[in-house]
Amino acid sequence: MTTTYRIAVIPGDGTGLEVVNEGRKALTAAAQRFGFALEMKDFDYGGDRYLQTGEVLPETAVDDLKAFDAIFLGAIGHPDVKPGILEKGILLSLRFALDQYINLRPVRLYPGVETPLKDKTPDDIDYVVIRENSGGIYTGTGGISMKGTPQEVAVQSMVYNRFQVERCLRYAFEYTRKFGKKARGKGDANTLGLVGKTNVLTYVFDLWERAFHEIGEQDYPDVTREYYHVDATCMWMVKSPEWFDVLVTSNMFGDIITDLGAETQGGMGIAAGGNINPEGVSMFEPIGGSAPKYTGKNIINPLASICAGAMMLETLGETEAAVAVEEAVKWVTGNKLQSLAAGRMGYSTSEVGDLVVEHIAKN
Ligand code: IPM
Ligand code: MN
Repeated sequence: MTTTYRIAVIPGDGTGLEVVNEGRKALTAAAQRFGFALEMKDFDYGGDRYLQTGEVLPETAVDDLKAFDAIFLGAIGHPDVKPGILEKGILLSLRFALDQYINLRPVRLYPGVETPLKDKTPDDIDYVVIRENSGGIYTGTGGISMKGTPQEVAVQSMVYNRFQVERCLRYAFEYTRKFGKKARGKGDANTLGLVGKTNVLTYVFDLWERAFHEIGEQDYPDVTREYYHVDATCMWMVKSPEWFDVLVTSNMFGDIITDLGAETQGGMGIAAGGNINPEGVSMFEPIGGSAPKYTGKNIINPLASICAGAMMLETLGETEAAVAVEEAVKWVTGNKLQSLAAGRMGYSTSEVGDLVVEHIAKN
């Protein structure tokens, strides 16, 4: 009997539709090649729907999505909608409502891709950031009082409880044990680095640091533990990315350092991420936005969406298919594309998708 996975597809806004279509092609090719089936259903959440109906997400959205095995997302953000409405109303709402408490963002330089880091190779830029995705300053309490007066006060607190920190750290330790550099034959240790700011944020990162060492010592003695301040992490991400294996950090720090990481791996055309609820429904997306100026031109790079698809397959348990998709992406970057940038790839969006499909089918 063939396994069928039910996938909710949210193309979203702008170039989301174009990249998701190529992701879909790659996923379908992988399913055919590896003998499973994908049943994909589209949802029209995004800016156009909001402008027509005044609603960001219908009331039933979360329950509807819970019936799927995974969610495949394009991009959220519309030039005619005030910034924040769709991002908070769709992307963040879904992350929180579906309790996708992990944001998994590999920073991997593929063959043939140009990095702004001088003399660094795919061997040097190959680590993963695990960003806590359910709390911190993103969900902390806050408000504005005396708005519009000279005495105006704005507060937005970084709030973490032990439960949130602990579940994120446990996921990170498990992940490191399974996919760290030693596990992948790339080094002699599996190393998890906690990224924080214990020298200033002496409450929140005290909690993180204590939990990190307690859990590590008790349950993951085989995983090497390191601690890095977030500012120094940025420096080393540029200077010596080869030092890193798996990094775990808070929501806001993770947001910031993964844009830096994405740039070092060739930019938004290639960077993908997974919003993961290990016990529930996870959502996979390219990290880049909706790129209004490239929309509808068939010039945007779809590889980030295709890489998000590979991460989705891995999470669904289709490891061989996930590897095949990633190998196809490497083949395309290593042998075909002139650049990752929109309009400068040497191929159109759909041609890049075709190349990936061709390689998956043949190998
Ligand atoms: C990201 C984005 C989002 C975030 C925005 C669009 C809400 O920057 O996925 O990194 O801050 O998490
Ligand atoms: Mn971001």
